[in-house]
Amino acid sequence: MNDLRIDSDRLWASIEDLARIGAVHWPDTGLTGVNRLALTQADADGRARVREWFEDAGLQVRVDRIGNLWARRAGTAPELPPVVAGSHLDSVPTGGAFDGALGVLAGLEVVRTLNAAGRLTRRSFEVGVFTDEEGARFGTDMLGSAVACGRLPLDEALGLADRDGVTVAQALAAFDLAGLHPVPAPAPHCFLELHVEQGPILHRAGDELGVVTGVQGISWTELTVTGRSAHAGTTPMALRVDANLAVARLQVALHEAVATGAFGPDQRVTIGRIAPVPNRINVIAGQCICTVDLRNPDEAGLAAAEQALDALITTLSDELGVTIEARRTARTRPIAFDPAVQAAFTAIAERHGWRHRHMVSGAGHDAQEFAAVCPAGMVFVPGEHDGISHNPLEYSTPQACGRGAQALLEAVVTLSE
Ligand code: HGY
Ligand code: MN
Ligand code: MN
Repeated sequence: MNDLRIDSDRLWASIEDLARIGAVHWPDTGLTGVNRLALTQADADGRARVREWFEDAGLQVRVDRIGNLWARRAGTAPELPPVVAGSHLDSVPTGGAFDGALGVLAGLEVVRTLNAAGRLTRRSFEVGVFTDEEGARFGTDMLGSAVACGRLPLDEALGLADRDGVTVAQALAAFDLAGLHPVPAPAPHCFLELHVEQGPILHRAGDELGVVTGVQGISWTELTVTGRSAHAGTTPMALRVDANLAVARLQVALHEAVATGAFGPDQRVTIGRIAPVPNRINVIAGQCICTVDLRNPDEAGLAAAEQALDALITTLSDELGVTIEARRTARTRPIAFDPAVQAAFTAIAERHGWRHRHMVSGAGHDAQEFAAVCPAGMVFVPGEHDGISHNPLEYSTPQACGRGAQALLEAVVTLSE
């Protein structure tokens, strides 16, 4: 094992190459980020490029019914369940080059390193690319891995639609991305994921690696607030049914409730999308769609925050005369990663003398879906600029990415025995 070393220049070249697919230059900030929104041309192009690399590395690639890619390197005991490492290639519209891509390309780098060393593992090794992890288009996160691991029924996933009414099934067909392999997939022996932390903890502490203990709970709700559009000048304040006012008050009330600590010290709330209709200066909004992202590592706290949202919906409807339709689009409980997988990553960090810490993931990841079907775990590398992510500023250094890929390599080799 100790002789195996990933090639961080080769990994970095792949990261930079992939980042050119779906690259977006933002003139206001001068930054260049990535927009590979799920099941768009850019996502299809990114998958095609990585599939080429998989096949160049001698991997057997199969595609399942929800479009997940599984790239297999046979072991000496191919009948055994494989070790799988992977992540996602889709991004949010304001994404960076590392979110998801690092985990996939580090899996590829593991293969390239084993190939170069002529090293066979006992268990087969597979690199996974999971469809629409972000959930930014079809409204539920970890879509592909949730179907692969049996939490989300295939037909329900295929029927999800985006804002234009395009379904997952139609988007998969548009780019010929759906395959024939059945879902749910057979459970791997174990599942590993490398990811940028996407937050400030490792960077501020000067830590080199994060051994992830689990993922916090996530609750996504889409609210359709209906008021009555009317003239901004002639309508007395007392006669208005203002959908925008309802959303504004909801946002402030939720943030204030979270700030009281009523749901525990770690509750987070984000109103990420607000879409008023008709969205014109002289018209009182007749409708406003908004999204509520609630997260908490404590399930009771998260449930209490959801109840507070429900109570607010009732209060605002009564006071403002609006109607509010709430649709829960994603809900995952907090999960814990496998202690043995955590111990494997911890031992690797200690062997290399890398500064490391154990931490809960603030972001959702494909690994959390696999935790329901096999031993699963994650390792984080720090990001620059306070680890900012879902922003073109997202950046992790070649050294940090190299450390993460080395940790993944050694964990794959250890857990493949
Ligand atoms: O929203 C998340 O946590 C992830 O980026 N899908
Ligand atoms: Mn991600
Ligand atoms: Mn993300």
